[in-house]
Amino acid sequence: MRIYLDNAATTPLSDKVLEAMLPFLKNNYGNPSSSHQEGRTARAGIERARKIVAQSIGASTSEIFFTSGGTEANNTAIKCAIRDYKIERIISSPIEHSCVFNTVNRMKNENIELQFIQLDQFGRADLEHLKELLENSDKKTLVSLMHANNEVGTLNPIKKIGEICGENNALFHTDTVQSIGHIPIDVSSLNINFLSGSGHKLHGPKGIGFLYVNKENCIDAYIDGGGQERQVRSGTENVASIIGLGKALEEAILHIEEFRLKIETIRNYFIEQLKTNFPEIIINGDYEGKYLFTILNVSFNTNTPVNMLLFKLDLKGISASGGSACNSGAVKSSRVLSYLNIPDGYHSIRFSFSHYNTIEEVDYTITQLKTIV
Ligand SMILES: Cc1ncc(COP(=O)(O)O)c(C=O)c1O
Repeated sequence: MRIYLDNAATTPLSDKVLEAMLPFLKNNYGNPSSSHQEGRTARAGIERARKIVAQSIGASTSEIFFTSGGTEANNTAIKCAIRDYKIERIISSPIEHSCVFNTVNRMKNENIELQFIQLDQFGRADLEHLKELLENSDKKTLVSLMHANNEVGTLNPIKKIGEICGENNALFHTDTVQSIGHIPIDVSSLNINFLSGSGHKLHGPKGIGFLYVNKENCIDAYIDGGGQERQVRSGTENVASIIGLGKALEEAILHIEEFRLKIETIRNYFIEQLKTNFPEIIINGDYEGKYLFTILNVSFNTNTPVNMLLFKLDLKGISASGGSACNSGAVKSSRVLSYLNIPDGYHSIRFSFSHYNTIEEVDYTITQLKTIV
């Protein structure tokens, strides 16, 4: 038996998504740029998926560009905004996902000023500081702040951030890779210029994502070639994965309330059991306030290092994580947690849930944690 509590790293593909993708991996093999029937079938599938993605966030189809995932979408938003809008300064936070954090840092080499916003104890951006930074400079600015933090689940108030950016003539990019499909987002009522999402965090395939670009903010080509994705991102489309992303978002939105209730029930029961059995734990992030319910980051007062805790859990059939998934598979100390002042002697595990998890799985995990921690 395996218990999968690492859904913030990736999620299992849903049966419905697989079912939707299969015809496009086998019979509907046409190149969407071809004008014959096979090509038209593939094109129609892509455009249906684009419509679903657009509708799911209140955008229009012309504002959605498919990418190879959240990483590419975030890189594109930041690099194209800088190139096409003559950005001179970026305001971001030190606890963004590495694909944003490393990108904004690299932009310093292009003479772009980088300022990090102050965070509260939960990792939430300080809006007064944002206002101050924006009001005290005339530099053309891009603000890049994520919606839900992928390690601790704290939510940033993207509506207010958008308003502050709008009032100060700054562009706003937000990474919604963790929150999309779990928390309703309607760009038509938010002042957002760029927004990114990814398929594999919501039971869709890996290696597919999208970038929303507000119609006021056209971007030029960043991958040249045959002109796919409206001349912006060339390359023959990843048809089956695009279909899968569309289906995954459709399912997530259709069941948004049902899945939220199920996951919240499991999460709340887990918190209650943790507090009963490990009275000294610290739960990181704004877990009682404004949080993403799929993520629970817990610090245990133990001498056992986190990689050993995770190894022992894995041996018992439980998959969790020490922070974000890292490409080497090694557990590095977390940059995000280093900003949240966790006391010495504590070791942190991220448990992250999906609607496939059960109360029985929580009971088993608690039993195993009692022998391991
Ligand atoms: C907040 C956040 N942004 C971006 C990404 C990267 O997305 P992808 O894996 O699709 O490249 C992740 C993935 O872990 C994430 O959690």
